[in-house]
Amino acid sequence: MTKVLVATVKPFAPAAAEQIKAVFDQAGYDCTFLEKYNSQNELTGAVSDADAMIVRSDKITQEVIQAATKLKIVVRAGAGFDNVDLAAATKKNVVVMNTPGQNSNAVAELAIGMMIYQARNHFNGSSGTELKDKKLGIHAYGNVGKLVAHIAKGLGMKIYAFDPFIPKSDMEADGATVCNSAEEMYAVCDYISLHIPANKHTLQSINYGLLSKMKKGACLVNTARKEVINETDLVKVFEENDTFQYISDIAPGNSDVLVGRFGNRCFFTPKKMGAQTAEANINAGIAAAKQIIAFLDSGDTTFKVN
Ligand code: 3PG
Repeated sequence: MTKVLVATVKPFAPAAAEQIKAVFDQAGYDCTFLEKYNSQNELTGAVSDADAMIVRSDKITQEVIQAATKLKIVVRAGAGFDNVDLAAATKKNVVVMNTPGQNSNAVAELAIGMMIYQARNHFNGSSGTELKDKKLGIHAYGNVGKLVAHIAKGLGMKIYAFDPFIPKSDMEADGATVCNSAEEMYAVCDYISLHIPANKHTLQSINYGLLSKMKKGACLVNTARKEVINETDLVKVFEENDTFQYISDIAPGNSDVLVGRFGNRCFFTPKKMGAQTAEANINAGIAAAKQIIAFLDSGDTTFKVN
């Protein structure tokens, strides 16, 4: 029987786990769950006889791939696959896929929710500001960026966008003012929402050159990855621009220092929460399960990323 391991340090919502299992039962696959595990050893042990894996932000290192002697496919139930060692997987002929778009709405709603929380001074009783008429810059106009723009338009925000990989006409069709460079967008917007992936081109790319362009009182919103931020430069910008704000779903390595020094000018969720809705878990989990079955039963490699 084909064996699938669903390995999630951060478990799927119970309804999602049930539905993933039902999809595999129906296809005659054996599906087991390894949730909230504490060490990579637990993961390498559990994956040893698996033909396929579903993971979230779990670290799929070379060691994990080597321990999984029967593994043919890993599906990252979500968008970013920076947690999977693609080179190691490719070397062992293991297909890696993601499930783009399946959890985007949850992340977009969180980005907007955090912006409202920040604009209202963390609901601390003091008077805040509104998002209406503020300029929102979307840095990368993919699945999440586009949804953030759509929701923000409903709030009366003015949308700006920068994405060299998306046709200008697509962003303009959504009513966005398309910027020619990230610098140009950072200089004019009140809020910047980050939606770039973490890869060798983007690591630490949100640096002093960009952040120092931001206006007084401007706010950077990060629901992407902490690795794209240059944290040393971030501190420098907090020091120089005394009303700059940074809110993130992925706390930076120096979050204690930032909160200690800059208080309510920052906000970090205690745990990465972007995709943590039942709906997103169900959408991404079921898509992952169906992609595994389509690949193993019919060789379908749609959504392959390696
Ligand atoms: C993604 O890349 O899909 C999001 O960052 C969600 O990650 P998670 O599944 O670990 O919550």
